[in-house]
Amino acid sequence: MVKIKMIPMEHLIMIERLAELETVAKQLEPDQQERAKLLSAAVRHADEFIESLVETPGYVAGDIEKLRAIKIKEGPGSMNQLLEILHDEVDAIGINSASGRHMGYIPGGGLFTSAIADFLAASSNRYSGLAYSSPGAVEIENQVIRWLSTLVGYGPASHGALTSGGSIANLIAIKAARDFHSINSTNIKRAVIYTAANVHHCIIKAIDMTGLNEAVLRTIPLDKNFRMDATALFMQLQEDSEAGLQPFLIVATAGSTDTGAVDPLNQVAALSKQFNAWFHVDAAYGGFFMLTDEVKHKFKGIQKAHSIVMDPHKTLFMPYGSGVVLVRNRHALLDSFSQRAAYMGDAYGFDDIDPSDCGPELSRHFRSLRIWLPLHLHGVAPFRANLSEKLMLAGFFRKEAQKIGFETGPEPDLSVVIFRLPGDRDNSENRQLLNELHKDGHVFFSSTTINGTLWLRCAVVSFRTHLREVMEALQMIRNIGDAVFQAREKASYDVNGCTHLIAV
Ligand SMILES: Cc1ncc(COP(=O)(O)O)c(C=O)c1O
Repeated sequence: MVKIKMIPMEHLIMIERLAELETVAKQLEPDQQERAKLLSAAVRHADEFIESLVETPGYVAGDIEKLRAIKIKEGPGSMNQLLEILHDEVDAIGINSASGRHMGYIPGGGLFTSAIADFLAASSNRYSGLAYSSPGAVEIENQVIRWLSTLVGYGPASHGALTSGGSIANLIAIKAARDFHSINSTNIKRAVIYTAANVHHCIIKAIDMTGLNEAVLRTIPLDKNFRMDATALFMQLQEDSEAGLQPFLIVATAGSTDTGAVDPLNQVAALSKQFNAWFHVDAAYGGFFMLTDEVKHKFKGIQKAHSIVMDPHKTLFMPYGSGVVLVRNRHALLDSFSQRAAYMGDAYGFDDIDPSDCGPELSRHFRSLRIWLPLHLHGVAPFRANLSEKLMLAGFFRKEAQKIGFETGPEPDLSVVIFRLPGDRDNSENRQLLNELHKDGHVFFSSTTINGTLWLRCAVVSFRTHLREVMEALQMIRNIGDAVFQAREKASYDVNGCTHLIAV
């Protein structure tokens, strides 16, 4: 006799509920047809955006009311509607960082081939923190690091980590320096850190985050070219040593944010050796100019640094989210960051160095693909050509700005030019010029204040900035500068009945 086994009621209820849940849960997995539809909408959007860059301005002020009003709902939305909002309220407003007319701050990149890599990395979602999990993803990361190490002149003992940007990369380097020199609560008050007046503020944040704000911080003055004054550094190191302090970290910059100045790395390297201090170089903006013959010599001595930071999302034209820290002696990095945990036991003992041992992140974006793929697809030559072009364009901009009547800073080491309306003692005219330039927005410039003087900055960094965009920039400062000059002349005439000022 066949025995009929009854399925218990609670199982039937459970199976029914699971079926319901699965139907809704599977909405996260669009089928092939739906994927093709979504993808073609996204590709069309990206394509139209890139095509529009020939015309679109570098900066647009505007409101984002539609975006603010949008709420995340329980049910599905429409891709076309969302792309429309992205187009109107994200892509079209603010600084257009993908534009060749973005010449403010340090412009970023946004290579299309990197975007493809990001899409592939996110689709496969390979876990790039551990060689055990994805030996291939980790090998790609380590290949990129080895290529960068060779570029800076490091040997096989070096290693590094790919990070989300320069700030985190600098943080990693400073923690490695702290641990290498065993700076802790017993000696921190005697420990001394040396930076220059133009150091990027992420270094100060890193000092704070690593608990080093109780150490002594020396700000070394700049020379007339806005580079760290090596003689002043030597004198300060000497004085501190004689006072029984422990100089332990010197932070130099290779391509300052303000003016693009490259500190005298070789001299700083010698001083760091003499005083047994960790030598760190923040080359977040400038580092990749080492690819060019024109300015490579300015980086002489960088290979003697204990650690170096570079930002592929600046001068390697990658999208935001790409930084790198390199450390000459990999043990300094591994000793500072490597940790072991019982639940990770299976993952240890593989051949490659685990990226998770080289920084604070465990789970992380498979970010090396966005650097590796473009380097292979394009080869190095177009990157090198872009950087040489940027150097030449910056020099051209400076000369032409001088011809128009602007005062400029010293000849730039790299591709940042500072300029201003001359004779403006209280900065008010230059402030007005900047406001007018922003109001126009065709080309975007930013500013900086050095020793109380307001300077406008033209940073030729984007891979989409070519001669045409620089000519547009010059036309714009000519026109708007003219208007400000004329207003000044008129004011001067109204007050004095005559004008004394140079005309554009
Ligand atoms: C010299 C320098 N260092 C560090 C940084 C910070 O890098 P990120 O913005 O990638 O965190 C910048 C940013 O412009 C920089 O110019």
